[in-house]
Amino acid sequence: MLLRLIAGDLPELAKDALGEFCRRSRLGGIVPLKIGLTRAHLVSDPALIRHVLLENASNYDKHTPAYDAVRVVLGNGMFTSSGSFWKRQRRIASPAFHGESVKRFAPILVRLANECADAWQEAAEAGRPVDVCSDMMKITLRGVADTLFGDDMAASADEINRVFPTILACLAARVSSPVRPPLWMPTKNNRNLRPALAALDAIVWELIATKRRRIADGSAKDDDHADLLTILMRARDEETGESMSDAQLRDEVMTLMIAGHETTANALSWLWVLLDRHPEEQERLRAELKDVTGGHAPTIDDVPKLARLKAVIQETLRLYPPVWMFDRRAIGPDILGGTAVKKGELVIFCPYAIHRLPELWRDGEVFRPERFEAGHEEQKNKFAYLPFGAGPRICLGASFAMIESQILMGTLLSRFRGRLADLAEIRPQPRVTLRTSRAVNLQLEVAPLA
Ligand code: HEM
Repeated sequence: MLLRLIAGDLPELAKDALGEFCRRSRLGGIVPLKIGLTRAHLVSDPALIRHVLLENASNYDKHTPAYDAVRVVLGNGMFTSSGSFWKRQRRIASPAFHGESVKRFAPILVRLANECADAWQEAAEAGRPVDVCSDMMKITLRGVADTLFGDDMAASADEINRVFPTILACLAARVSSPVRPPLWMPTKNNRNLRPALAALDAIVWELIATKRRRIADGSAKDDDHADLLTILMRARDEETGESMSDAQLRDEVMTLMIAGHETTANALSWLWVLLDRHPEEQERLRAELKDVTGGHAPTIDDVPKLARLKAVIQETLRLYPPVWMFDRRAIGPDILGGTAVKKGELVIFCPYAIHRLPELWRDGEVFRPERFEAGHEEQKNKFAYLPFGAGPRICLGASFAMIESQILMGTLLSRFRGRLADLAEIRPQPRVTLRTSRAVNLQLEVAPLA
């Protein structure tokens, strides 16, 4: 009884978060929860989601325990900041992430996809399975880092690859722990995190200084050919004319590296699991690729024509949304569907559960990419499909993630068929992102389309 008073619903959620959120979200559009001593509301009704994330978004911020936990690395970047500071940062960064602007980074993604395919070719010829989760993590980290730093990235690539797994593991431990000691305290987690973060910080500061020097001496490339960090450094707020300081750039770089790689990597790992369960879909995607590209690896011009591949990625994000849960804190009182939300209370969204609600999705557990083909009824309610969030804080990197996923999957599927190397069950594991419960080992058949 005392435990329940102090911990609230945490013990049940800790045992089976996905099951509990699915069960509770079926009880109604807004369901009370207690997270430790804090009152929270699990919101699953699209009209109420729209209210919090769009109509009354200014009444909610990101000062929640989950976001506070990652601030130790991300600082006050776009993912974690709130209010007018966030608005200004987003305004400055947004133009670089619009669909058309993102296309300029596609050649980097094409190159990395081909490198991955070449490494897979060697594994396939040696009869060795590939570890999809590990390979996707490496390639999406390279994707975001090469985009941010351009040619200057090469010298630091190995060091970034070395420290990142430690940083991600330490962040995951912080997010799932009820206590978050400040970084200076000598806990085991902090002792692991501190040197890894210091090493990454040293690289990022050095790269910021290099880019500043290049802009000052006129040797930086123009915006059509420059790396993302240079573009962000030059960008001005259209309202105030201000640009980002080095400290703000540091936080945004950390944010983009963390927010922009594990998410996409998880989605692509799940996509291979689904293609193993649905081999007919794998053949269908290969047929589409042959039609569109003649069998060669896709380029950015092919991406809009790969409609089935896009639908399959969207369906993967519905069934296994990498950001399986996110939340907000009420800054002031609000009324949500007749329920009073008080200042300081949390509002929680669980895309994993919302994407399976029977009133929103027919046969929600079933893999059916047709849902995302043109004109289908189920895609009309934007607030029932939240893999990238919604409203003004919708994922800044959504276009980047979709282009990256299509180019990478298109390249790999043009050269290989893949089946899981073993039959053991794979379940979703809710960590910071939605991971697979075990490694996804893929046995490849070399099967070039061209
Ligand atoms: C499949 C891949 C991805 C998924 C599922 C995803 C998901 C999300 C979600 C759900 C949010 C909103 C969280 C909230 O409202 O509390 C978000 C925000 C954000 N994402 Fe992504 N993301 C992905 C890829 C990326 C990439 C590739 C980048 C950058 C290159 C990126 C950068 C960001 C940033 C900066 C924000 C904060 C936006 C703001 O609050 O203004 N994401 N993402």
